[in-house]
Amino acid sequence: MDKILITGGRRLEGRISVSAAKNAALPIMATALLSAEPLDLENVPDLADISSMRRLLQLLGVEVTHKAGEAGHMVLHCPELLSTTAPYDLVRRMRASVLVLGPLVARAGEARVSLPGGCAIGTRPVDIHLSGLEALGAKIELDGGYVHATAPGGLQGAEYLMPTVSVGATENLMMAAALARGQTVLMNCAREPEIVDLAACLNAMGAKVKGAGSERIVIDGVEALRGALHRIIPDRIETGTYAMAAGITGGRIEIDGADPSLFGEALDKLRRTGLALDATETGMVADGGGARLSGVDVMTQPYPGFATDLQAQFMAMMCVADGAAMITETIFENRFMHVPELHRMGARITVQGSSALVRGVERLKGAPVMATDLRASVSLVLAGLAAEGTTEINRVYHLDRGYADLERKLRACGAQIERQA
Ligand code: EPZ
Repeated sequence: MDKILITGGRRLEGRISVSAAKNAALPIMATALLSAEPLDLENVPDLADISSMRRLLQLLGVEVTHKAGEAGHMVLHCPELLSTTAPYDLVRRMRASVLVLGPLVARAGEARVSLPGGCAIGTRPVDIHLSGLEALGAKIELDGGYVHATAPGGLQGAEYLMPTVSVGATENLMMAAALARGQTVLMNCAREPEIVDLAACLNAMGAKVKGAGSERIVIDGVEALRGALHRIIPDRIETGTYAMAAGITGGRIEIDGADPSLFGEALDKLRRTGLALDATETGMVADGGGARLSGVDVMTQPYPGFATDLQAQFMAMMCVADGAAMITETIFENRFMHVPELHRMGARITVQGSSALVRGVERLKGAPVMATDLRASVSLVLAGLAAEGTTEINRVYHLDRGYADLERKLRACGAQIERQA
């Protein structure tokens, strides 16, 4: 089981190139199921989750090839489906596998997809995905831990109000509606930039999707989708993570390829701590100014609110801030698993329900800690970068799901970080 060793206490100074957004690439790869023509994707990040999605799509009949010499250039081609079943063994490893459900029902009129099961950060049901497909005329049955969705006569456009804002449900239903007969109006949609990117890719394939990025999305179904060329947007969560690496160490990191407009409310919140974040010719620069940051309260919200995927990293940064910060998690019911690990490093955090009160300390101390989920694991990396002494992070396979080349990128900024098998 790999571990990462970090000797902290150094200011990070240097340049990092941000990768493409994992959470845009995953649904966009699934759109390959909707067309019999090749989908040409540029800038696909090299991550464990992307490999998982590639394996699942290949099982379903998608030929996946890589353009020689062009890292991240992936061509997905599904002339015909080989299967409409997404097996438990693959889905349990990556919840985003559920994003093949909508495309399969739209393309083939049926799908058998294993229920993803819960994960470390919460139960994460898929009831909204299922009720939305029912609204589009699919019949949904649950048996043996599998969802069996059928729409023998195809899907029929409809109006559907989502009871909770859900990124995945918005994406699944957008993809399903693209080939439905007639018009679909989705309300209370998630507004994340990854949804806007998915809509851009669908429209490049000949779909008719309007309103992505707002809470109301209108899709006029078409007979068939063609192939397209699409470049994935930069990863705003990876960008925020490296910006906070500059913040927690008082350093300065140029983040090439970053797009400040993708941050929503998080940009203002991070700036309020004293972390300078400015646009540059090639992306963004984050400057901790060599000073201790100030405590700032944060509540996670659906986009454009403060992203829940930045909460753990922000908490790590607040652990060494001057003052206190109240951090409230409103999206997932169990996303404070990084707290006991940060306690081991000397952090002062009190959790009450969905809120955590962080009282900044002068210095964290390195210690052996355990990664529990993707974003919690990277918050421990940030804490290790600032801590005195050595931090050993175990179960780093969580990190590899969402951060390409993490050690190399941080070493390029002066971090003393290495992986041990
Ligand atoms: C996406 O997950 C992201 N994953 C998550 O990133 C991110 O944390 C989350 O959106 C919120 O922004 C991908 O895009 C692959 P949701 P998703 O449906 O779609 C409840 C990471 O670190 N809900 O917006 O699964 C759910 O339980 C990952 O990269 C239902 O109740 O999130 C949660 O409380 C972690 N029923 C809330 O909605 C449903 O049918 C938001 O979940 C669906 C969701």
